[in-house]
Amino acid sequence: MTTALITGATAGIGAAFARRLAAEGRNLVLVARDTERLQEQATELHDRHGIEAEVLTADLSDDEGMVAVEKRLADRKHPVDLLINNAGFGNKGRFLEVSMADELTMLKVHCEAVLRLTSAAAGSMRERGRGGVVNVASVAAFVPRGTYGASKAWVVQFTQGVARDMAGSGVRLMALCPGFVRTEFHERAGMGTDNIPGWMWLDADKLVSSALADLAKGKSLSIPDPRYKALMGMVKLAPRGLLGGVSSRAGRKYGPQ
Ligand SMILES: NC(=O)c1ccc[n+]([C@@H]2O[C@H](COP(=O)([O-])OP(=O)(O)OC[C@H]3O[C@@H](n4cnc5c(N)ncnc54)[C@H](OP(=O)(O)O)[C@@H]3O)[C@@H](O)[C@H]2O)c1
Repeated sequence: MTTALITGATAGIGAAFARRLAAEGRNLVLVARDTERLQEQATELHDRHGIEAEVLTADLSDDEGMVAVEKRLADRKHPVDLLINNAGFGNKGRFLEVSMADELTMLKVHCEAVLRLTSAAAGSMRERGRGGVVNVASVAAFVPRGTYGASKAWVVQFTQGVARDMAGSGVRLMALCPGFVRTEFHERAGMGTDNIPGWMWLDADKLVSSALADLAKGKSLSIPDPRYKALMGMVKLAPRGLLGGVSSRAGRKYGPQ
């Protein structure tokens, strides 16, 4: 039986990955900060699908948390075959409205943790000649959108670069770029969603299905859903100034929206 480690497993996209991979019969290592929620999730997935689900409480914005997950990924006796670097969050507000501490925390979780965990996993996967890493970025990687967009652009560039470096090793890496997904993300960040049209929302379970299909095809970049594929095609052609104006307004204003 193979094992997948998912960061940010307790909610939203990470929880959808956990449901899907458990249903496929994979054992899981579930990572997040809320131990009680992780334990409830592990019990439910074990009871429903008969898989083993380990709980690993870790805050990926601090060194101790990153080291704990790196150690688990490097454990040769209990190998991890699939790593889903999914933990992430949004900060409400434009540049200078968000505290420097919150900006730096975002870089730790979205970039440093992704770098360190990918490295820990890819090393032991290469020795075994197989494995997969999915790094959850965002379509925000392709538009000007402050630290969030910049951190996700880093995830895309990093992942595609490493995928190329590891070509032929049996280890696949893929950056996953969702559009708007109904999860706890916006509420946790205190972002209003009233101005986001209904057609732009994606379902987390469907998103995970297309992501795993893209990984199986060997893609290094996945933009699930034809609506967002078309939109990102237009983004490539649109003037940067226009894009920046639209993108930096959506969901980032302070105060009620
Ligand atoms: N929702 C969207 O519209 C959307 C669109 C594009 C990309 N994304 C990306 O998708 C990923 C998942 O987001 P989501 O929408 O599923 O969000 P979510 O529903 O808010 O879930 C976030 C998960 O990350 C965990 N987490 C947050 N900070 C953490 C930390 N410091 N250390 C460890 N775990 C942490 C949370 O658990 P704990 O609080 O217990 O730690 C939770 O399990 C993120 O990388 C996000 O940027 C989301």
